[in-house]
Amino acid sequence: MFFTGSHRRQKIHHPQYATMKKFVILSLTIILLAVASYIVINRWNIWFGNPVESPYQAQSAPYHILLTFSPEGDDFRCITWQCDTLAGEASLLYSLRDSGDTATITTQPHIYHSQGGASAFYRADLHTPQPGIYDYRICMKADSSQWLHFTLHDTTSDTTAQFIYLGDIQDTINGITNNIVTDIVQHYPATDFFILGGDFIHRPLETYWDEAFRGIAPIATQYPVAAVSGNHEYLKGLNASIEPRFILHFPYFPSSYLDNGACATLTYGDIQIFLLDSNAGIVSLFKQSRWLDKALRNSSARWKIAVLHHSPYSIRSPYNNLDIKFLFDPLFKKHKVDFVLAGHEHGYARRTTRDLDNHKQTPIYTVSHCSPKQYPLYINNRTDRYGTGNRYFQQFTAHGDTMHMRTFTTDFALYDDIILIKSPDKTLLIDQTDTIPERLELPDEVAQRLKPGQIHEYNKSLEERAQRHLPI
Ligand SMILES: [Fe+2]
Repeated sequence: MFFTGSHRRQKIHHPQYATMKKFVILSLTIILLAVASYIVINRWNIWFGNPVESPYQAQSAPYHILLTFSPEGDDFRCITWQCDTLAGEASLLYSLRDSGDTATITTQPHIYHSQGGASAFYRADLHTPQPGIYDYRICMKADSSQWLHFTLHDTTSDTTAQFIYLGDIQDTINGITNNIVTDIVQHYPATDFFILGGDFIHRPLETYWDEAFRGIAPIATQYPVAAVSGNHEYLKGLNASIEPRFILHFPYFPSSYLDNGACATLTYGDIQIFLLDSNAGIVSLFKQSRWLDKALRNSSARWKIAVLHHSPYSIRSPYNNLDIKFLFDPLFKKHKVDFVLAGHEHGYARRTTRDLDNHKQTPIYTVSHCSPKQYPLYINNRTDRYGTGNRYFQQFTAHGDTMHMRTFTTDFALYDDIILIKSPDKTLLIDQTDTIPERLELPDEVAQRLKPGQIHEYNKSLEERAQRHLPI
């Protein structure tokens, strides 16, 4: 039997079917809108909420004086400070001790108005090509600072370089950072510079800047301090941006930072530091990754250290910071970065890279903080070492072919200990932490914020970790 015409199925339209379809679409739309509204209402403050700034009065004498690095280059140091808006032109006198010469830098104020007041920000770049002790004094029309000083070690004859890394400080008002920093600098007076891993302040308000400078007062005028920006240095909003006071205090970023992100590189002896702005938007992160690729390619430094607020390897969730991981981590590996130092997650973690034989390699990724805040951690198999319930700082010493990283709690108990020995073709990694117990218990203040199910999951992950680390 043959069919001579096309045989098509007839589509039957039932009015009830169309009504049901509309009902389902409408219901789904309402549910989605309700869920989105719930999320936005709950997260509004976290995403967009900027706190109101209380009125403040700037001081007539120079204050918030900071010694830092300079965009003019590694042969310069930069001094920044604040004063009231009436102070006008300022001058900074400086001299290399016993040289017999005193130089004067005159500088104009940059008036910054924030919600609660206004102050004048100043910056002076000191040419410091020779090692030695530099004395300096800030002179304003009405008032002047006392003579201050800093030391530049001779990196050609003494090839040991030391620096301290502090992750998030983010102290509360009248916090204890000042005591901690006093102790650190008493233990390590030969430190060459300090690096802060973002969230130096709790919020971009003058009162928190006051607290932050009170915290680092023992070092601020005599050890160079550099910082990367964290989310707490940002003004929130659809177009989030770094609050200008951060850049005015830490002005070593190239003038194009607004387009390219607050990234910069600093070199001290054999160490080159790469500062990244991991809180920036995705367009800036792309630009920063191009900048980083070029900067690392051009680097001839023996030791390369990247600093950014958000680690490529989050210790709070496997889904966090994927943009950072995607854009930056291949560059850290490709260009053989030694350490990647991060913060943000208010716990301690160290993760080494593994080769095909599971041997520990660089890059070494650490997350650290020195703040009163604690977060619950996500325990995974690939992190070598975690730490909870303490504040930490890391001390780095580079001497010739060897770099030593030691992590301490603020009572100076050794918590992590890694040595790198570099030869032209490889970097040997020695992990010396076998005898140091790992602290993983949930701090009480964290446990109080968790639901019973979350605590159970955390404890289960600890048991699994303990099983994996049993001696064979
Ligand atoms: Fe943060």
